[in-house]
Amino acid sequence: MRERTNLPSVTGLRMTRRAHLRWLTAAGAMTIAATAIGACGGGTASPTPAPTQPAQQAAPTTAPTAAPPAATPTTAAAAATPTTAATASAQTTPAAQSAPMGNPLTVDTKASGKLEIFSWWTNGGEVEALNASYSVYKKYFPNVQIINAALAGGAGAGGNMKAVLKTRMLGGDPPDSFQVHLGHELIDTWALPGKMEPLDDLYKSEGWTEVFPKQLLDVASAQGHQWSVPWNIHRANILWYNKTILKENGIDPPKTFDDFFVAADKLKAKGIPALAVGESAPFHTAHMFETVLIGKLGAEGYKGLWTGQTPWTDPKVTDALNTLKKYLDYANPDYLSVAAGDTATLVVKGKAAMVINGDWNDGQFKSEKFADYGWVPTPNTDGIYDTLADSFGLPKGAKDRDNTINWLRVGGSKEGSDAFNPLKGSIPARVDADRSKYGEYQQWAMDQWKTNQIVPSCVHGFAAKESWVTDFVNTMNVFATKKDVAATQKQLAQICQDAGVCK
Ligand code: GAL
Repeated sequence: MRERTNLPSVTGLRMTRRAHLRWLTAAGAMTIAATAIGACGGGTASPTPAPTQPAQQAAPTTAPTAAPPAATPTTAAAAATPTTAATASAQTTPAAQSAPMGNPLTVDTKASGKLEIFSWWTNGGEVEALNASYSVYKKYFPNVQIINAALAGGAGAGGNMKAVLKTRMLGGDPPDSFQVHLGHELIDTWALPGKMEPLDDLYKSEGWTEVFPKQLLDVASAQGHQWSVPWNIHRANILWYNKTILKENGIDPPKTFDDFFVAADKLKAKGIPALAVGESAPFHTAHMFETVLIGKLGAEGYKGLWTGQTPWTDPKVTDALNTLKKYLDYANPDYLSVAAGDTATLVVKGKAAMVINGDWNDGQFKSEKFADYGWVPTPNTDGIYDTLADSFGLPKGAKDRDNTINWLRVGGSKEGSDAFNPLKGSIPARVDADRSKYGEYQQWAMDQWKTNQIVPSCVHGFAAKESWVTDFVNTMNVFATKKDVAATQKQLAQICQDAGVCK
């Protein structure tokens, strides 16, 4: 059943519409930041002023709603434990590689005990990137035992993991740190309900106000405090393609919806699904739909959907749903039983020509040792960066608090960031990244980030509170089966009202 309001047992309060608007305005302001600071481009860091008053002063809101049942850790997760190589490298001399400003990481052999890290990173690319963070940690804190509590089996965007996290957080058994998206997911779900420790002192001692873009800091802050450390910046609106398949069929990478459907027809004639889709659990259809909405409504129209300024009854939303329905006509026919995380593999194996997903696919292709891929922004979204960011914070009551603080220091350091991101497919949140460590896609993405218009992803926790996101992905999961445009549009309007954003 849908949860209509926010979690009264935690907060008894809801985010006001005005506060929500203020928040999204801050997200929109990231465009300016990206342009002004030349973020992530390598070169020199451009110090930014300390964060000003946070964009969001809203009252606490929500907690995750109906989510799939909890899964148990898988072998994939178990495989993600730190390597011995990481431990072996612990004795090297890290001082020379320490962060350029702030409190340098130095080897601390006295730190001991455990560190439990909770995430949904169990796919190719995700595992290697997480292991890279663990390796840097082990290098400086060799006597701490890392417990990798990654949970597989969910859809993309962490369905299962979030359900387990909710149980643990509300039950007073938090992991030492957990993966959480910057934006509403972090702030509404955990920070404002008082479940996290503020990180202002750490931000000061590590010099992070100088090296993270100010507007990213604003998104990670509320009530005048910083609540988590950004590990990366991901882009959601990318169309990945198998180069050989497109070439063999005389197809140029499609830039518009029209291009796409012309290409899709050509491929259909040869019996090749144009799109790999995986909707065995709610996620991928919603993710694709988000990109279609941006393509049909433009950046401002799309952002307005999450602030109540663009009505969900808009004919462009109808158009977007019809387009999504048409996409599904060109998908692998078994898409209802395929996992989202396996769709990149369909492209690798030549079983589908293209796939719409975030740039974690870049990490997955690398992990699968597949180089025959190209990318373009999803149809009609050139110049728009559909943005999300993963982060980690410090839950109140974390059992291994000191070790967790060091985990945050590692992730926020230049060394940690440049170890994690090249494998993850994301670009670093820090402005002083070593560009030479990144692959072709990521160097392109760094350049795009500087010039594109930034819009916040809904499905990945940035644009909307978690209960609304859950309603959204569930609505689109039903659409994937029934393909009922009118009923879905009505439901989308309803869940916006339920979220307290639409009248
Ligand atoms: C996103 C997350 C990414 C990646 C992706 C697919 O929500 O931010 O880091 O894990 O889901 O699982």
